[in-house]
Amino acid sequence: MNAVMHGGDGTLSIEVDTGMLVLEIKDAGPGIDDVELAMQAGYSTAKDEHREMGFGAGMGLPNMKKNSDEILVDSKKNEGTKVRMVFYLNQGEKRD
Ligand SMILES: Nc1ncnc2c1ncn2[C@@H]1O[C@H](COP(=O)(O)OP(=O)(O)O)[C@@H](O)[C@H]1O
Ligand SMILES: [Mg+2]
Repeated sequence: MNAVMHGGDGTLSIEVDTGMLVLEIKDAGPGIDDVELAMQAGYSTAKDEHREMGFGAGMGLPNMKKNSDEILVDSKKNEGTKVRMVFYLNQGEKRD
């Protein structure tokens, strides 16, 4: 949803291995000014039209971090955003 709402459009790829899943979402949108701030719960620049559809709670990135084993947010202003998440399979709870 972030790639669509904030990035305008994007691509999603998933790599499936015996021990892990790697999910990569890329867009060539406006990019994120301050990734650390964007990762904070509740921070959102979503527009009213997004909120009207039930998005824009500012919990997308925090929940992606919480629910993945590894997350990399690589973003450059005016160039776009890449989010890569790794999910290890059959290893029980997340280790920090
Ligand atoms: N792909 C993206 N392109 C540009 N900005 C983004 C992108 N993903 C996230 N952001 C920025 O990070 C903020 C927080 O994202 P998120 O936690 O998913 O909350 P929400 O989407 O509800 O606003 C967004 O409001 C936006 O400012
Ligand atoms: Mg979001």
